Amino acid sequence: MRILLENFTKKFGDLTVIDNMDLEVRDGEMVALLGGSGCGKSTTLFAICGIHKVNGGRILFGDRDVTNITSQERNVGVVFQSFALYPHMSVEHNIGFPLKLRKESATEIKRKVDEIAEMVHINELLERRPGELSGGQQQRVALARALIRRPDVLLLDEPLANLDATLRLEMRSEIRRIQHETGITAILVTHDQVEAMSMADRIAIMDNGKILQITEPKDMYDNPVSDYVAGFLGSPPIAFLNGKVAGTNFVEPATGIKIPLNAAIAASHKGMEVRIGIRPEYFQPGTGVMIKGKVTLIEAQGRETLYVVMLPDGSILRSIQGGNSTVKIGDVVEWGINSDHVLVFNQDGAKL
Ligand SMILES: Nc1ncnc2c1ncn2[C@@H]1O[C@H](COP(=O)(O)OP(=O)(O)OP(=O)(O)O)[C@@H](O)[C@H]1O
Ligand SMILES: [Mg+2]
Repeated sequence: MRILLENFTKKFGDLTVIDNMDLEVRDGEMVALLGGSGCGKSTTLFAICGIHKVNGGRILFGDRDVTNITSQERNVGVVFQSFALYPHMSVEHNIGFPLKLRKESATEIKRKVDEIAEMVHINELLERRPGELSGGQQQRVALARALIRRPDVLLLDEPLANLDATLRLEMRSEIRRIQHETGITAILVTHDQVEAMSMADRIAIMDNGKILQITEPKDMYDNPVSDYVAGFLGSPPIAFLNGKVAGTNFVEPATGIKIPLNAAIAASHKGMEVRIGIRPEYFQPGTGVMIKGKVTLIEAQGRETLYVVMLPDGSILRSIQGGNSTVKIGDVVEWGINSDHVLVFNQDGAKL
């Protein structure tokens, strides 16, 4: 079921939290709302599920305008960060509760609970109480309870925030599997870019109540609309250098570093101040525009290692490399920037 927000506006008193937002989530798609704390992610989700009234605009599920109908009538499944299971009820009763409210028969409820428990892999746990479950198991129960009414849309607000690293990984792919199996249209709220990248069909990146860009994860990574978006995606993050366009090059005045630019960009921005962004995979030993700097930080990241390299003017580049290396903190290295993959931004931060 397609979800459409048109000119959605939400205020709390005088504070406009969401200003004229348009958002389309296609049928069967999972879109991640990604952004920093306080940017309006949860507010958007609450409005879609009917907890918040909107101050302007419309919300549609399919062709149906749901803007002014209650949460119950919208048929949404919701999972929040705190799972909010009923502690005194068994897992079975927790999951079946929404159906009990709808006065479905006990046999019917049992049948549906068994079916959904199978799907989220908790059939062994139905007799237990929430207190007797691990965090990941509780999360599965919460998901089962959200799905049992066969909702038209599934809304997930930081569903993995309370889980440890291993469980997060597992639940990421589990939620994705279940979403695929059910074909349900879903919105995932998160401030974790890795979660958004790995789970969503498309990412909507938000700042200050606005969507800055919405596109597929890979496209947002390769073609961010601004330096802000570029900085939000990628771990370790992109590094920026500030300088000017001189001839066909980017030049950093303090160091004299020169990097060839795309001809059209160089021509249209002669002499202008620009900012370039270099992702860690494009600053590597051996090839490219060679840059000298001092290694100030080395961080083992499992299979790969992150090196932070400081240039003479204090700006930094990051490099992510596999394999073993003898490089130590304090060493001066000369590594290459792959100029084909340099992102260029204007003074206002917009990508050129
Ligand atoms: N009930 C409320 N009354 C007044 N202001 C609110 C209310 N709920 C949220 N806000 C404000 O609206 C803004 C957006 O809040 P929201 O909860 O949507 O942020 P968020 O993006 O979900 O952040 P986080 O990642 O921290 O959960 C914040 O400035 C917040 O203080
Ligand atoms: Mg929130």
